[in-house]
Amino acid sequence: MTIAPLPQRPLTRADTQSLDAADVLAPLRQRFELPEGINYLDGNSLGALPKGVAERVERAIREEWGQGLIRSWNDADWYPAPLRVGQTIARLIGAQGHEVVVCDSTSVNLYKVLVAALRLRPRRRIVVCERGNFPTDAYIVNSVAELMKVDVIYADPDQVPAAIEAAGHELAVVQLTHVHYKSGQLYDMAALTARTQALGAVVIWDLAHSAGVIDLQLSALRVDFAVGCGYKYLNGGPGAPAYVYVREDHLSEIRQPLQGWHGHKRPFEFSHDYEPHPGIDQMLVGTASQLGLIAFEAALQAYEGVELAQVRAKSMALGDLFVRLVDERLAGFGFGLASPREAARRGSQVSLTHEQGYAIMQALIARGVIGDFRAPDILRFGFAPLYVRHVDLWDAIEALRNIMHSGQWREPRFAQRKAVT
Ligand SMILES: Cc1ncc(COP(=O)(O)O)c(C=O)c1O
Repeated sequence: MTIAPLPQRPLTRADTQSLDAADVLAPLRQRFELPEGINYLDGNSLGALPKGVAERVERAIREEWGQGLIRSWNDADWYPAPLRVGQTIARLIGAQGHEVVVCDSTSVNLYKVLVAALRLRPRRRIVVCERGNFPTDAYIVNSVAELMKVDVIYADPDQVPAAIEAAGHELAVVQLTHVHYKSGQLYDMAALTARTQALGAVVIWDLAHSAGVIDLQLSALRVDFAVGCGYKYLNGGPGAPAYVYVREDHLSEIRQPLQGWHGHKRPFEFSHDYEPHPGIDQMLVGTASQLGLIAFEAALQAYEGVELAQVRAKSMALGDLFVRLVDERLAGFGFGLASPREAARRGSQVSLTHEQGYAIMQALIARGVIGDFRAPDILRFGFAPLYVRHVDLWDAIEALRNIMHSGQWREPRFAQRKAVT
């Protein structure tokens, strides 16, 4: 996809509408149920509702559960759903269908693969992670480190390569999140994976903020393990099940720690002794959340026939447009840019800093422009290229400009902290 260069003069709303008119992905917006009057820039946190999901879930409840009852585990193909949905996700992350399964949460899946990875390198004692990664990753790494008596080195993002080198042949595992949840900064997955493996260690990528917006190539890069969320850009719905990827050749050599009956080779023999399934099924633990899986599977149809390279190209263009509009239209209001300027170093979000960020974001949401806030001062704007238009970014920036000009963010109601920011 070629993206027309933007004019040199200050942009207008009409320019952004022209970009939409030329956008080959624009028709995909029709695949979503978007509320009237809402400008949704938070698909990095909770993806929008794709059309057909509500009907599919209603059918699952009324017919498959209500009428089919327990027979639906077979008759409605409930039992194989974790593998089936995993195959769909595999295409989106550049993996093979039998390397991905959908289950549990990202946190739980990270626990499983981290223990499995450390068991592959029993004589090595160091795990390298990023300081400031999403907290659940650090909490899980710390709990596994305590259990398995290994040391964790936390490095700032630009110090990660040096920390990997310093660990040298003591390095067991590198665990990183591909796109940072606050800054949107993107790691070089190819270089870090290759270097980690050259040192004889194993890499685990958290794809929470990259799956569905970046043309990931896990197989081509020979990534060892990966985990990620279903409810962000993949639009699986609130608390959707997560997914886990294990590279094919590791399937026969790993032992994951949460041995439950659905990971057993023959679960319906109910044998006393655990025998892991030889395939990706071994990453399963217990009974899958079927309604969540059914919603997720229906939601993934929004990606049917969609080329991730085109999605990435639009995502980068949206980010560049947003940064340019911030420069042109928000100068002097105290905003800083918390994301990299270069699209190639950024995921599908742009984050701004402002010391009154919480109140400003609340005022923005009250106007129907939905982004979110991350303490202490980050305003996050996520661009889901399947449904976000270029003109939406213009309108969001104009709303921000208006809030700053009028001082509307100072209204006391916008200072009241809610439980979820
Ligand atoms: C990088 C990253 N990992 C994991 C999670 C969440 O994990 P879980 O689905 O287990 O709550 C998030 C949530 O925002 C995240 O940003």
